[in-house]
Amino acid sequence: MDNFIVAVDGPAGSGKSTISKIVAKEYDLTYLDTGAMYRMVALCSLENNVDLKDRGAVSEMLDGIKLDIQGEKFILNGKDVSHDIRTPRVTAIVSDVAAIKEVRVKLVDLQREISKGKKVILDGRDIGTVVFPNAHLKVFLVASAEERANRRLKEYKEKGIDISFQEVLESIQNRDHIDSTREESPLKKAEDALEVDTSSKTIEEVCNKISALIEARL
Ligand code: C5P
Repeated sequence: MDNFIVAVDGPAGSGKSTISKIVAKEYDLTYLDTGAMYRMVALCSLENNVDLKDRGAVSEMLDGIKLDIQGEKFILNGKDVSHDIRTPRVTAIVSDVAAIKEVRVKLVDLQREISKGKKVILDGRDIGTVVFPNAHLKVFLVASAEERANRRLKEYKEKGIDISFQEVLESIQNRDHIDSTREESPLKKAEDALEVDTSSKTIEEVCNKISALIEARL
C-alpha cells in the first residue's frame, strides 16, 4: 500500500499527540502534528504584529511564510521555533488564527502535500472531516475538560512555565469553544470515526485499541 492515512482528531489535551507519536513509531508512519503548523502561523503573526482582522495583511504574511517541518522540529522562516510555538502567548491566539479561511487553505494544502504517497498519522481538528475524508482510519479522542487541563498543566510545569490550573482550564475551554463553533472546518467527529474517551484509560490501552484497528487495515 503506497498511501495510508490515519486521522486523529479531538480537542486540546485529549491525548492526540502522545498517542499518535507512539503509534507512528510502532508502524513506521510519518507523524504530522497539524496543530503545530497553526501555531507557527500564530507565532509569525505575533512577531510581525499582523492585525488578524486585516485579511490583506494576513494574506501578505501567508505569501511570505516558510514552514519547514523536520519530524518534531518546526522551522519558521529559517528559525527553529519548536519551543516558542508552545508558549501560552501563542496558545492564547492560535484558535483565532486557525479560524481564518486563508490560513486553513494554505495549511490544508501543505498537509496533503506532505502526506502524498506516504504512510502518515496526522493529528488535528479537521483531519477526518476535511483534510482526508477518505482516511483509512479515523479516531476521535475526547476527555473531560478538567482532565485535559491537568495534563496541560503538567506539561507547562515540566517546561518551567508558571501558570495556574484555572488559567489552563479557561484557555482550553475558550479554545474548545472557538474551534467547535467556527465557520471554517469546525472541530467535530467524522461520522465514521471511532470515538475513544481517554479520561480513564492508560496511554497503553488507547494505543492498543488503535494498533488493533491499524493492523486490520494495513
Ligand atoms: O493541537 P494543538 O492544540 O496544538 O492545536 C492548536 C490549535 O490549532 C487548535 O486549538 C486549533 O485552533 C488549531 N488547529 C486546527 N486544525 C487542526 C489542528 C489545529 O484548527 N487540524
